[in-house]
Amino acid sequence: MALIAPSILSANFANLERDFDLLNQSACDYIHIDVMDGHYVNNLTFGPPVISHLRPLTKKPFDVHLMIDRPERSLKAYKEAGADFLTVHTDATIHLHRTIQEIKEMGLKAGVALNPAQSPEEIRYILRDLDLVLLMSVNPGFGGQSFVPQVLDKIKELKDIRTQGNYSFKIEVDGGVKLDNAKEVLNAGADILVAGSAVFNAPDPLKRIQEFKDIQ
Ligand code: DX5
Ligand code: ZN
Repeated sequence: MALIAPSILSANFANLERDFDLLNQSACDYIHIDVMDGHYVNNLTFGPPVISHLRPLTKKPFDVHLMIDRPERSLKAYKEAGADFLTVHTDATIHLHRTIQEIKEMGLKAGVALNPAQSPEEIRYILRDLDLVLLMSVNPGFGGQSFVPQVLDKIKELKDIRTQGNYSFKIEVDGGVKLDNAKEVLNAGADILVAGSAVFNAPDPLKRIQEFKDIQ
């Protein structure tokens, strides 16, 4: 069964508590939290103070996607705020291997994100250390963009690499995932689907999460 991580980027920032109530009632597996710094991406969202206020609202794991420059400077703050998964972009940190080790040494799950133009080849030598590889299926920065179809081949390639290397990381696909392409994304080899606008812009977000969970 697909693991579903609704992205609160499309939630109502003026009423996150209400949206967390909804997520608590849902069958979602993780809560995807998009941190944007206005540098690595143009958009700006929130950081550790907001996440730490969200933490008591739910028991669901926080899947924190850092779209920030030099994430190594603030890993500890995200751990203290309540992150369970911490995912960094390869091109935002100078010593990626060290950053991953630091995340793991703090006892968190470590993820690396690849943008649409990047190849899994770039992270070959750290794959054994990862709990998660996040494949961006839009360019990072905004919700509601269209799925980049070439990512389907990348998912398959990464899944083959995982099988050959006997690695254990999960494959997460983030951006433009909708009910009508989710099956294809899962068939290609994704384990976790991130869905922002598809969930929060749906007339009934709770029902929409269940529809994602029910995909066979
Ligand atoms: C984009 C973010 C995504 C975003 C996905 O930079 O990383 O998590 O919320 O939004 P949708 O599902 O609307 O494409
Ligand atoms: Zn994201």
